[in-house]
Amino acid sequence: MKKEQYGFEFDVYDSIDDLSKEDAFLLQQAREITRTAYAPYSQFYVGAVARLNNGEIVKGTNQENASFPVSICAERSLLSSTAALFPSANIETMAISYHNQNGKSSEPVSPCGMCRQALLEHEKRYDHPIKLILSGTEGKVYVIERSSMLLPLSFTGDDLKK
Ligand code: THU
Repeated sequence: MKKEQYGFEFDVYDSIDDLSKEDAFLLQQAREITRTAYAPYSQFYVGAVARLNNGEIVKGTNQENASFPVSICAERSLLSSTAALFPSANIETMAISYHNQNGKSSEPVSPCGMCRQALLEHEKRYDHPIKLILSGTEGKVYVIERSSMLLPLSFTGDDLKK
């Protein structure tokens, strides 16, 4: 028997002001788009904004449903739009923000498990890492170099061929 370990490093910034101009722009857009999320049941409003390798900016928000499992997260809503609008472009960077019914948040949250799986599929499909920028509407910012770092021992299309 032997033990294996998994871990990864990510960057923590004190505020949006410490990001590059491009990353700060994306995060600002993500913070703003939370206002258009449709989240009447959870009142947890999530915004995701991506920059593609063709320079396009694509946005997504969570869309809830009275039949709760029908709801979709902001990240997967964004991934679907991107694949439909620009099927041959890949996402370089995605910023994700959120707030609750108070309209504010100060801690980063990271994508749910289902979204991590969907992000991984996009990385594999385009053979390109997606950089994640995570932050509330204010405060510190996490930058993770590739979204697949969030999903160790993952299941992918390669496993279907084993
Ligand atoms: N949600 C997202 O949009 N992204 C996440 O990564 C976590 C959760 C949404 C789903 C649901 O509409 C609400 O937040 C509460 O779970």
